Parts: sequence; structure tokens; C-alpha cells
Amino acid sequence: MSHASNLIATDIDEYLHAQQHKGLLRFITCGSVDDGKSTLIGRLLYESKLLFEDQLAAVVADSKKWGTQGDQIDFALLVDGLAAEREQGITIDVAYRYFSTERRKFIVADTPGHEQYTRNMVTGASTADAAVLMVDARKGILTQTRRHSFLVNLLGIRHVLVAINKMDLVDYAQQTFQRIEQDYRLFAEKLGFESLTFVPLSAFKGDNVIETSARMPWYQGPTLMGWLETVPVDTLRLCQQPMRLPVQWVNRPNLDFRGFAGTLVSGQVAVGERVRVQPSGRESTVARIVTKDADLTLAVAGQAVTLVLADEIDISRGDVISAAAAPAEVADQFECSIVWMDDEPLLPGRAYMMKIGANSVIATVTDIHHQVNVNTLEQMAARRLELNAIGVCKLSLDRAVPFDAYADNRDTGGFILIDRMTHRTAGAGMLHFALRRAHNIHRQALDVDKAGRAAIKGQRPCVVWLTGLSGSGKSTIANLVEGQLLTQGRHSYLLDGDNVRHGLNRDLGFTPEDRVENIRRIAEVARLMVDAGLIVLTAFISPYRAEREMARAMLGEGEFIEVFVDTPLALAEQRDPKGLYAKARRGELKNFTGIDAPYEPPPHPELHIDTTTCTAEQAAQRVIEALSLAGVLG
Ligand code: ADX
Repeated sequence: MSHASNLIATDIDEYLHAQQHKGLLRFITCGSVDDGKSTLIGRLLYESKLLFEDQLAAVVADSKKWGTQGDQIDFALLVDGLAAEREQGITIDVAYRYFSTERRKFIVADTPGHEQYTRNMVTGASTADAAVLMVDARKGILTQTRRHSFLVNLLGIRHVLVAINKMDLVDYAQQTFQRIEQDYRLFAEKLGFESLTFVPLSAFKGDNVIETSARMPWYQGPTLMGWLETVPVDTLRLCQQPMRLPVQWVNRPNLDFRGFAGTLVSGQVAVGERVRVQPSGRESTVARIVTKDADLTLAVAGQAVTLVLADEIDISRGDVISAAAAPAEVADQFECSIVWMDDEPLLPGRAYMMKIGANSVIATVTDIHHQVNVNTLEQMAARRLELNAIGVCKLSLDRAVPFDAYADNRDTGGFILIDRMTHRTAGAGMLHFALRRAHNIHRQALDVDKAGRAAIKGQRPCVVWLTGLSGSGKSTIANLVEGQLLTQGRHSYLLDGDNVRHGLNRDLGFTPEDRVENIRRIAEVARLMVDAGLIVLTAFISPYRAEREMARAMLGEGEFIEVFVDTPLALAEQRDPKGLYAKARRGELKNFTGIDAPYEPPPHPELHIDTTTCTAEQAAQRVIEALSLAGVLG
């Protein structure tokens, strides 16, 4: 072994040793107040006494609330305080508590147990190294325990302690403990945790929390605190994984320096090592590892560094610098798990903003393979994911990104989905694997292009997108417009709801997910027709803003002309050309737009036609004028 690698090996050992013993353990507790979760957390805070300094200050300052005199905390009041916080509206959040012992510092994510708080568990568990599952010795394994276990496993936590609490209420009976352990092991086989530890305890009396209980001599294992102090932190495992540095920003203070800054999320990197930059695939050698203090010869997972490479290669925010021998994969189609956290359901076909590492891309669920019943672990068919649902889905992105499987690396394999209209974080997800390699599928470069096709027709192609309630007059207006275009010798095509639904979209109904898919297909067809050089008219209710915006985004600047055919519901209903409103009112037609399904009017259409003040002919004339103004008829 050369001197250099010897040195590196020593450094790593020291680092790992330090991490293991002085490091920080993040863990999550799962269970409800009834299981004694607040009592347990109170006990840990109380007994460890060495609260983090800021928290200690807060506790002392707020002595009334916590029942503190000087730095003496009253255990009962502390627990009451924690439980009361939970009861009072704070319940929907994750509460982070800090404490430390001589061996470690701890951050515990305290999350409410009920199903409606799945979102909080996701937040609390996604950064945790370990989980403590609370079980009431009198009740054993409950549905809730199974749900928590499933989520903890899904979110990549490998080490689980099942705290069988309230042993004092079952006379410290070994049999009770063993029966619960057996039950749980049987269930958890399906999940495959790396380590499972069972501790019989009484958070209330303090048995086996910090000190070994004399009341359960039959138990030989660690105390809860003993386990917390020694369970491996995930950083240790990540140090052994291939190197990944997602580039957060490019640091270029002057022409002589160009560094790539970010946190090393896994592995180690040394000066002189070969790296590969994904998605470009370009390779170089690490010239320097810069930190705010000094240059390093070696960096390991968890450190924030700036890498300087030997070659001038193009790297931007969102790229991942990887070990050359084991680089991150690159793909744009995945199988993944998604935990849905928004009141608005996830609909396949709808476009969401996806954040993965430092990348933002547009993502669409193309298929929901199944939904998991988190209480029974059964797989169920699903066409959408409601709040707190978990599904295994196919995901398609608008461009390829570097990634790893979430099971290997939570940083490069985890993502969130953001609703593009409300900007809310709507879902969290974990990538399983790429469905196909993006670089195997090329877009065919064609010699004849849109401009050429449009030129021989003497027009500028575009989509005139009419939206409005059923019976608002979309089809009538579109018909008149197309008639005029034809007389002028224009090349056009009219896509109309009622017609398309007899052919291309005859498999679709009027549920939200079907309407999304209806519009997605229409938008794709309209785009192809624009590429063919045509003036395309579409007449669909297209009730959702999100899908109209998606259609707009698929087309070039100025190619999407949104026309709001604005007819008040009362008037549309009065006209009722197909008798459908009457049917809907009688309850014979479900999901009817305006009656029991929503219509989201466009806030900024290119053209707003109020049909109460003009005839269909006048409306058509206004569309033609808008087209001339836009230079389409040029
Ligand atoms: S969209 O919502 O998906 O854009 P689309 O424009 O294709 O709807 O189809 C709407 C037409 O289908 C209506 O004009 C009406 O004739 C018919 N229809 C049948 N059932 C419904 C329903 N539940 N809601 C709205 N329109 C319906």
C-alpha cells in the first residue's frame, strides 16, 4: 500500500470513528399519545439532562410551561407539556426535539400517529437514520403499527427499534413481550429491515429506557438509550457507497477559479481521482477539494465542499459529479413510489414540477401500477392518488436527469412533486429504477420542418383553443371560424369534443383523470397538426387550468391562442342543446361540468368572448380578427 492511500485509510477510520461516537443521530418516533410516545420522549429529554444549549435556554426561560426551577425539570410537567403541545393544533406538524448524552447528539422527529398525518411522517422520516416504533404491551401490534412500519421502510430507514411499552401494566411478563415480538417479526419479514430490535420498557417508570430494569431480568438486550447510542448512523453506510456530489452552484469568482459546490451525499473523494459528470458523461480528475477553512486531500459523505477539476468541462447546477468507475445513472422514465400529500388528487397525465437534487423538471405520471393499502399492505388498482395515498407509478420527465435508486441513496433517488398552479408540495417520491435508458431513444431528425410545411401553405400555424362550459357555443363558433378560414384558402382542422370522443378518446369518460387524459391527447394531436403547418381549432370544455397551461407549454411562443367562450351557467343550462343539463339536474348524469364537476375559467385568455352580448357570427369574427392581429393569416 502506498503512503498516500495509507494516510487516506487512516483519515477515513478516524472520521468514521468520530461520526459513530460523537456524531448526530436523527430518529423518528412513531405511535400515538396513547402508546406513551410523549412520556418516552419526555423521559429521554429528562434523563439525558444535557439538552442542546439553545433548547435548555428555552426551557429555563419558559419555566412555567415546562415546570422548570433553575435547570431542574419536573418530569411529569415536561411530559404534560409535550402532550399538551400535541393536543393544541400543533398536532399537524412534526416537532423536532433535541437532546444529547456524552456519546451522541440526537434529534428526534416527533410525528402524530393518525393516518391523516402521513405527510408529517414522510417529512420526519426522510432524513432519519433510525425509527422507534411504540407498541402498547396491552394491545400488541395494531393497524397503525403496520402503517408506520411500511412508511418507515418505504422512506429508507434500515434500523428499527420496537419499543414494547407499558410493561408495568402487564406485570413485566416475558410471555407478553415474546408474543408481540413474534407477531411483529412475522409481519416485518415482508419489509426487510436491516436490523430489528425489541425492547420491553416502561417509559412511565423508566424501565429499560436509560438503565437496565431489575424488574425484567429475563431481558438481556440493550436499553432504549443504549441502542440509540450505538445504532449506526446512515452517514457511515453512505461513506461506503459510490461518490456523488450534486452540484448546487458553480463558483466562479474570477477567471482563474472555477469550482463546483455542493454536499457530498455519498462516498469519498480524493485529489487525483477520476470523476464523471452526469448527465453529460464527461470525465476529468479532481484537482482540488476546497472548503471554507482549508483545502482537503480527501472528503467524505456529509461534507460540504467545492471541487476544482483538472479539465475545463461544462458543468451546471443540477449535474451530479460521480465516481468515474460507478457513476449515477441517467434517465427520463422511471418506476417509483409516490406518497401523495395534497388535497387535490394526483391525476395521471397532469404535469407537475419535480425537484430532484438541484434539478427542476416537468414530470407526469403516465400510469399508476397500483396503490398500496398501508394498513394491510394489499395492492389495489387505482386511477388517481388521493391525499395520503401511496402508489407505485410510472413517471415520465421532460428531460433526463442523473439519479440513483432511493434504496441506495436518498439524496439522488428522492424527489418531490409540486403543483404548478398552487406551488404547493403535493407529493414525495422515491425512484426505484429507470424504465429505459433515455439515450437509447433518439428523436428522429427530419429534413422537412414545420417552417417549410407552413411556408407552402402561406400561413403561420397555431392552435385556437376554445374553452367554456358545455353548451357555451364553442363548437358553433369554431365551425364558423373554420368556414371562414376555408373561404380564405387556409389550411385548418377542427378537433371537437363530441367527435374526438367517438374515436381517438372513446375509452375516456368524464372523471377528473379521464378529462386530464382527454386534454393531454388533444394537446399532443394539436401539436402534431401545428407541426404539419395547420391552423388548429379545438373545442373542448377543458375545465382545468393545469391542462390548458400544459397545452400552452407544449407549443411555441404565440402558437397558443386561448379563447374563453364565457357563457354563464344559467344561460348554458337554459339553452341546453343536448338536454344534458336537465339530465344532470335529475341526477342521471354524474360529474357534469358546472353541476357537480368544476370549471376553472382562464384568468388571462388571449380572447375573452362574452356570449351574452354577441352572436355566434360576431364571436367568430372576433376570433378571425385575433388571428390576423397575431400575424397567423400573414
Ligand atoms: S372535457 O371536460 O374532457 O374537455 P369534452 O369537451 O371532451 O369535455 O366533452 C364535453 C361534451 O361531452 C359536452 O359538451 C357534452 O356534450 C358531453 N358530456 C357528456 N357527459 C358530460 C359530463 N359529465 N360533463 C360534461 N360534458 C359531458
